Amino acid sequence: MNEAIVACTETTAETTRPTLAGRHVVVIGGTSGIGLAVARHVVREGAEVTLVGRDPERLRRAAEEIGHARQCIGDVRDSSSFSSLFDTLPEVDHLVITAGTASLKALRESTPADLRWTLEERLVGPLSIVRAALGRLRATGSIVLTSGLLAERPIRTGAILAGAVAAIEAIVRSLAIELAPIRVNAVSPGLVDTPLLDSFFGDAKHEALASAAAALPTGRIGRPDDVAQAVGLLLAGGFITGEVLHVDGGGRLV
Ligand SMILES: NC(=O)c1ccc[n+]([C@@H]2O[C@H](COP(=O)([O-])OP(=O)(O)OC[C@H]3O[C@@H](n4cnc5c(N)ncnc54)[C@H](OP(=O)(O)O)[C@@H]3O)[C@@H](O)[C@H]2O)c1
Repeated sequence: MNEAIVACTETTAETTRPTLAGRHVVVIGGTSGIGLAVARHVVREGAEVTLVGRDPERLRRAAEEIGHARQCIGDVRDSSSFSSLFDTLPEVDHLVITAGTASLKALRESTPADLRWTLEERLVGPLSIVRAALGRLRATGSIVLTSGLLAERPIRTGAILAGAVAAIEAIVRSLAIELAPIRVNAVSPGLVDTPLLDSFFGDAKHEALASAAAALPTGRIGRPDDVAQAVGLLLAGGFITGEVLHVDGGGRLV
C-alpha cells in the first residue's frame, strides 16, 4: 500500500502591512483620555503627531508624556481658531477629532443657547475643522470623527447629544463619498475610563463603573487604549471608509 504523503505548503504572498510610520497625524483633543491614547498609539507606530487642545499647559504635559509632539492651541467651538492653524502645519496624513465634553441636559431644562452649544461642539466645530484641513490633507489620508454609544442606546438627558453623535455617523458615510479618495470614518466608544468620566460621575464613579462593567458582555468597561487601537486600524486600513467602528464592550447589545 502506498504511504500517503501529506505535504503542507506555505504560499508567501506579497503583503504590505498597513503602517503609520512616517505619517503625520493631527489629533484634535489629544491632551487627555481617548485622544491622548490615540496620539501615544500612532507615535508608537512611527507617526509624527500634532496635538490640538485649548490649554497650553495640558498640551505641554501631553507632549511630554508622549515623548515628542507638535502642540497647537485650538477650540473646537471657535472654528476661526482653525482657519489658519492648518496653514502652519506640514501636510497632514490623518486627522482625528476626539475633542468633546459630556454635555448632558434634559430638553425641558435646556435653553436654545444650550442646544446650540452642543451642536457647535459636536457638529459645526468638527465639520469646520475638516473643511479647514482639506487644503492640507493628503489624498491618501483619512479622517476619524467621534460618535458614541448614545447614538444607539438612549439615556434620560441625552437627547441632544444623542442626535449630534448619530448625525456624525450619517455624516461620515456622506463625506466618504464627497471627499473620496480621502477616507472618512468614525469611532463610537462605549463607557471608557477617562477623565471625562471623573467629572461626569464624581465620587460615584467607582461604583457606577463597576455596575456598568458587570452588565457588559466583556465584563469590563473600556480603556483609552482599546479605542486608540481601533482608531489606529481605521487610519492604517486603506480599504475602510464610511465605517462606524463600535468599541463598546458589547454595550449596544445589552
Ligand atoms: N469616555 C467615554 O466613556 C466616552 C464615551 C463615548 C464618547 N466619548 C467621546 O470621546 C471623546 C473623548 O472623550 P474622553 O473620554 O477622552 O474625554 P477627556 O479625557 O475629557 O478628553 C477630552 C479631550 O477633548 C478636548 N476638548 C474638549 N473640548 C474641547 C474644545 N472645545 N476644543 C478643543 N479641545 C477640546 C480636551 O482638551 P483640553 O481640555 O485640553 O482643551 C481633551 O483633550 C469625546 O468626544 C467624548 O464625548 C467618550
